[in-house]
Amino acid sequence: MSPAPVLRAIVRQFGIAAQCVELEHAAPPITEPGNVAVQMKLAAINPSDLITISGAYPTRTRLPFIPGFEGVGTLADGSRVLPLGSAGAWQQIKQSDADWCFPLPAWLSDEQAATSYVNPMTAWLMLTEALRLPAGARVVINAANSAIGLMLLKMAQQTGLEAVAMVRRQSAAETLDTAYPIVIMRDADDQQAVQQLRTSGGVDAVLDCIGGQGALTLAQALKPGGAFISYGLLSGEAIPADFWRHRPDIAFSYFHLRLWVHQASRAQIASKLDEVFALIRRGVASTAIAAIFPLADISEALHFCQQQRPSGKVLIHCG
Ligand SMILES: NC(=O)c1ccc[n+]([C@@H]2O[C@H](COP(=O)([O-])OP(=O)(O)OC[C@H]3O[C@@H](n4cnc5c(N)ncnc54)[C@H](OP(=O)(O)O)[C@@H]3O)[C@@H](O)[C@H]2O)c1
Repeated sequence: MSPAPVLRAIVRQFGIAAQCVELEHAAPPITEPGNVAVQMKLAAINPSDLITISGAYPTRTRLPFIPGFEGVGTLADGSRVLPLGSAGAWQQIKQSDADWCFPLPAWLSDEQAATSYVNPMTAWLMLTEALRLPAGARVVINAANSAIGLMLLKMAQQTGLEAVAMVRRQSAAETLDTAYPIVIMRDADDQQAVQQLRTSGGVDAVLDCIGGQGALTLAQALKPGGAFISYGLLSGEAIPADFWRHRPDIAFSYFHLRLWVHQASRAQIASKLDEVFALIRRGVASTAIAAIFPLADISEALHFCQQQRPSGKVLIHCG
């Protein structure tokens, strides 16, 4: 008797996720030597998934593909793991390299496990590996009401930094903890926001996930020799070519979790994950969950993400 088919999301052409992610039933993947079958439980929908589906990285994304960079699943022995290092979380059974499956502490809920990697690891690595600022340094975090922005604020505070929260609208500012100074940068050319930062002493670092012309505007708030890390392009626009001409003095870098994990050893990844799990336990790197949709309703889940401005992560129940 042939095994029962499994459900999976699949992308056959690039475009807007809600329109081009399809569902199909397929034979369960054959487990190759060195691989394990991970029965996926919950997977997250992140901007990096939507951007990949849009076709922004055509050279490293071959069609068709199964999306989903983050999720939690179980192995045949019942143990829970994070299958990292490859896409494919949005399906019932993911074939994963055994060396890329990381165990999870028993106390971590499935919801927090499914959101314990992409944002918490990126935030923690940027602060502890890429920036390494001295205590008291002042760092601006834009899109501060995003999932990663909220973590960065708390992590920065934990590590003795002064975190300045930047959002683009008053109603988002009202949702933030008033313990942080809050600056509203309404558009890419908001000189008033930059002036506010400069007159209060300037900043030592910027963690920017918006990009475009706003990055250049925001860089004007940096003290001489300050650090600018670009880790996302929510505006859909690259860092302008004249950025470096305007601020040749600053230390500019990009941060990509994918690049960090693929040059790190398994022991280094496991060690950073342990630090992140401890931060989740203390509420520093935990994630608010807005909704959970069954995999069969992936299209509704994607519409919800793209149209509703959810205040938290949207998860997919794969089981
Ligand atoms: N480099 C890496 O390895 C890495 C890893 C993790 C995350 N990231 C990046 O981090 C960013 C946030 O991820 P997330 O999961 O935290 O997202 P999220 O929770 O979905 O948050 C969305 C946020 O983006 C803001 N936003 C959306 N479009 C914007 C625009 N055009 N201009 C300004 N703000 C905009 C929203 O502001 P409103 O509430 O005002 O709409 C909201 O604060 C993404 O760019 C993601 O790719 C990068």
